[in-house]
Amino acid sequence: MEKLVFIVDDEPSILRLITHWVKNQWNYKVETFDHGEDMLKNLYKEPDIILLDIMLPDIDGIEILKRVKSRNKQLPVIMLSAQGSVEIALESLRLGAFDYFPKPIDQNRLGPAIKNALQNYELHKRVEELEDNIQKEYSFDNIVSSDQNMQSLFKMISKVLNNDITVLINGESGTGKELVARAIHYNGNRKDEPFIVVNCASIPRELLESELFGHEKGSFTGAHQRKIGKFELAKNGTIFLDEIGEMEMSLQAKILRVIQQKEFDRVGGNEVIPTNARILSATNRDLQQAVENREFREDLYYRLSSFPIVIPPLRERKGDVVILINYFIESFNKKMGMEIKGVTKPALKVLYDYDWPGNVRELENSIERCMILTDSDYIDVSHLPEQLMDDSYVPNINLSGEMFSDSSPIIPFEKLKEEAIKHAVRVTNGNIVEAAKKLRIGRATFYRLLEKYKIEVDRK
Ligand SMILES: Nc1ncnc2c1ncn2[C@@H]1O[C@H](COP(=O)(O)OP(=O)(O)OP(=O)(O)O)[C@@H](O)[C@H]1O
Ligand SMILES: [Mg+2]
Repeated sequence: MEKLVFIVDDEPSILRLITHWVKNQWNYKVETFDHGEDMLKNLYKEPDIILLDIMLPDIDGIEILKRVKSRNKQLPVIMLSAQGSVEIALESLRLGAFDYFPKPIDQNRLGPAIKNALQNYELHKRVEELEDNIQKEYSFDNIVSSDQNMQSLFKMISKVLNNDITVLINGESGTGKELVARAIHYNGNRKDEPFIVVNCASIPRELLESELFGHEKGSFTGAHQRKIGKFELAKNGTIFLDEIGEMEMSLQAKILRVIQQKEFDRVGGNEVIPTNARILSATNRDLQQAVENREFREDLYYRLSSFPIVIPPLRERKGDVVILINYFIESFNKKMGMEIKGVTKPALKVLYDYDWPGNVRELENSIERCMILTDSDYIDVSHLPEQLMDDSYVPNINLSGEMFSDSSPIIPFEKLKEEAIKHAVRVTNGNIVEAAKKLRIGRATFYRLLEKYKIEVDRK
């Protein structure tokens, strides 16, 4: 790409001279300025190098150097000066100047210095770009995804790491809501403080308030001693209110107070306790709908969702299925000391085609299960959980063994049918619906055959 060189000097002859050299030698683009301030205003054009005179009419060159460096530390600046003062030279190098040239300028030395500085900067930009891509494309901490929407989600997350915005994470079960909450906490400036999870759905309603805010001794039957709540435990860290959609209205009002006034009381207490904990919350419910149904406070909803993040379900980012499979195989290999190499093509097709109602969690569990079941280097269709097979899938069973070997008698068709039915009943534990489905016959036919072969079913 064409380079852009900025030259700042109040002597027109110097500007002309250097411009001439640079254009002649490399055909770079040049812009000249006789005031430092003008140049600073043009930094947005992203020059690749700045040649900067120290004595300027408005601000002195050292000050300009500082301002340039505060905006872009890596951008190379070469200082030029009529005063042959060694101190100024050293000062500018200390402040990050790339090099220093006394006037009159020696072209034979300036040329290689410019070339060198540009190469350096180019390399730096390349490395930064690469690091950026690796981070952004494949992971945010340990969140694996190559999906476009997930990438923009990562970008959004990176904006809320170091502020106190209350983030509401919305997504179906198993999409990675907690993972995102953890990423926000552990990548931000509260990372050395506690990360406290409260699952609002799994704690009985009457106990949730005390769980969150603590209680004083004797405040209710069973409160034998003072209890410190999760908000106090979180200190200056993060409190993650999971399944907040399940919280009852009276408690919602108390959460609103924490957000607005940064304070709460313990149950049965009359001391106001201040808190500085950051609040993140998650739900798989449509909270806006819950607000309309008057099941969720509108004011709290607006407070919580000042920064909403929606994690798309896995079926809407099928590309991630493949990356996640490899990621989970690798991590279970490490955890379980195994050396599974991958998934066979037919198995991959089944995994890809499946709808994943339980999202990433279901995929993770399926892979773990397959790895335990497999006795070869690759996960194959026969290792996959049954619910992954859709109706059109027929298992590839090899029947040419004993029963169908060339020397065995030909089996009457009726007998085969009878055995198939008995087998299906056994395997499904008498679940007629499932057995009929797997046999690809209607339920009526199935009942008729049960009767015909006099098969007893312990009906479920
Ligand atoms: N993008 C991802 N990369 C790697 N692992 C993931 C990803 N998304 C989810 N997981 C893993 O899937 C599992 C479920 O994630 P998590 O618990 O964060 O989901 P959730 O949305 O909170 O689910 P639930 O609604 O069931 O509580 C975890 O083991 C998590 O590590
Ligand atoms: Mg969760």
